[in-house]
Amino acid sequence: MFSASKMLPGVRSVVVIGAGYVGLTLSVFLASRGVRTVCVERDAERAGKIMRGHSPIHEEGLPELLKKVIREGMLEARTELGDTLEGADIVFITVGTPTGSNGGPDLSQVEEASRQIGEALAATKRGSPLIVVKSTVPPGTTWNIVRPIIESASGRSCGEGFHLCVNPEFLREGSALQDTITPDRIVIGAKHGVASEKLVRFYEALYQPAKIPTLITTPSNAELIKLATNAFLALKISFINLISQLCESLEDGDVGVVAEGLGLDPRIGPLFLRAGLGFGGSCLPKDLRALKAFTSSRGVDISLLEAILNINRAQRIRVVERAERLLGSLAGKRVAVLGLAFKPGTDDVREAASIDVIRELLARGAEVSVHDPVATENARNLLDKTVHYASSAEDCLDGADLAIIATEWPEYASLTPNKIKTKMRNPLLIDGRRVLNPQPLEEAGIKVYTVGRSSEAV
Ligand code: UDX
Repeated sequence: MFSASKMLPGVRSVVVIGAGYVGLTLSVFLASRGVRTVCVERDAERAGKIMRGHSPIHEEGLPELLKKVIREGMLEARTELGDTLEGADIVFITVGTPTGSNGGPDLSQVEEASRQIGEALAATKRGSPLIVVKSTVPPGTTWNIVRPIIESASGRSCGEGFHLCVNPEFLREGSALQDTITPDRIVIGAKHGVASEKLVRFYEALYQPAKIPTLITTPSNAELIKLATNAFLALKISFINLISQLCESLEDGDVGVVAEGLGLDPRIGPLFLRAGLGFGGSCLPKDLRALKAFTSSRGVDISLLEAILNINRAQRIRVVERAERLLGSLAGKRVAVLGLAFKPGTDDVREAASIDVIRELLARGAEVSVHDPVATENARNLLDKTVHYASSAEDCLDGADLAIIATEWPEYASLTPNKIKTKMRNPLLIDGRRVLNPQPLEEAGIKVYTVGRSSEAV
C-alpha cells in the first residue's frame, strides 16, 4: 500500500511502462518526489528485484534512492498493467525500441504497451489520463501508430477519452539519476494544448523552483529532435575520430590538442570531441540506424549518416590492425583488454567498442584476458568462452604481450610504470581512450600507442 503523505499537488499517481534505464530512473525519481508510482515491467525477475529494493542496473545514487522509495511505499513494480490505470493521471511509455531486422526500430513493445493501455482504458470509467511516449521512436509514430492503437483498443478518442504527447528523454547512462533530477531541457510534442499543458504543469511542480527550458512543438518534431540529437552527438564523435586518423599520420599530430582548438570556437563547443574507439551503448548506434532508416524511407540522402557509422566501425578495427602490426602476428599472443563497459560509470556493454575489439582479436588468433570493474557479468553473455576474466587490472596485465585500454575507467589512468613493467611480458600499450599520460610511461621504457597521436612506423 502507498503512503499518501507527500504527493505532488495535481497528480495523484503515475504509471511507467518499462523498467529500463529511462523507466526505472524516472519511476524512482518521481516516487522520491512524492508521486505514487507504479512501474510495469514484464520481466518478472526484474520486477521482483525492484520490489525487493535492488537496482537491476549500475547507476550512481539509484540503489539508495530505490531502497528508500520502496520502503516508503511510494514505488511499486508489477508485471501487468491490470487495474493500475484506475488511479493514474499520467502514463509514461518507456519501453525499448531496439533495432529491427530491416535496420529501422522494432516498435513492437511500443505497440504492445499502447494496446494494453487501450484495453485498460476500455475497462475503466475513469476520465482522460495523459499518455506520454518517452520511448525513442521515428517521427510520426506517436500520432500515426500509438494513437490509433489506443483509440481502437479503448473505444475512446484522443483529445477526449485520453490525451497524448511525446516527451523524449535525454538522460545519459552513468548519470541517469542526476540527468533526471536536473534535465537541461524538456521537449514536448502534442497536437492538443490540453496534453502539453498538463505535462508542463506536472514538470513545473516537479522541478520547482528550477525553471527548465521547455520546448513545445508537434509530435513529429519532438520525435525528430531526439533522433537528431543523438545523431549529431555521434557525428561529432566520428568527426573527431576522422581527424584523429589524420593526426596519427602526421609526424607531430595530437588530436587532443586539435579538439581543444576546435572546442574553443563557441559555434562548435568542446563537448563530444573525445577521440578514441568511438561510440557504443544502447542509444547512439541504435538511434543513428533508426534515423538512417527513416531518412531512407523519405528518399533523402543517407550518405552522411552512413559515414558516421563507418568511421565508428573503423576505429575499432584500426586498433586491432595496429596491434597486429606491432606484434607481427596475433596468433598465440596474450592481449589484455582493460575495460568492457561502453563508457565508465555503467555496467552496460551493449554495442561497446570492447566487444568488437575482443572478437576481432580472437578471430586473429590472440588469447584475450579482460578486466572491468563492474561490467564483467554482462560481457560474459556476449563473449567467447575462451576469454579469461581477470579480477583486477594488474591480473589482467599478467603475462600479456600487449594491453589495450577500451574504456576510460579512472583506475586505468593511474596504472604506474612499475606495475605495468612487472606484470606484462612485453610492456606495450595501446591507449584506445587517451587516458594515459604517455610521457612517464615512455621514459620508463614502456611503448605507448595512443589513438589520435602520431607514432613512428606503426
Ligand atoms: C546518449 C546521449 O548522450 C543521451 O542524451 C541519450 O539520452 C542516450 O544516449 P549514453 O548512451 O548514456 O547517452 O552515452 P554518451 O555519454 O552519450 O556516450 C555515448 C558513447 O560515445 C560512449 O561510448 C562514449 O564513450 C562515446 N563518446 C562520447 C566518445 O567516444 N567521445 C565523446 O567525446 C563522447
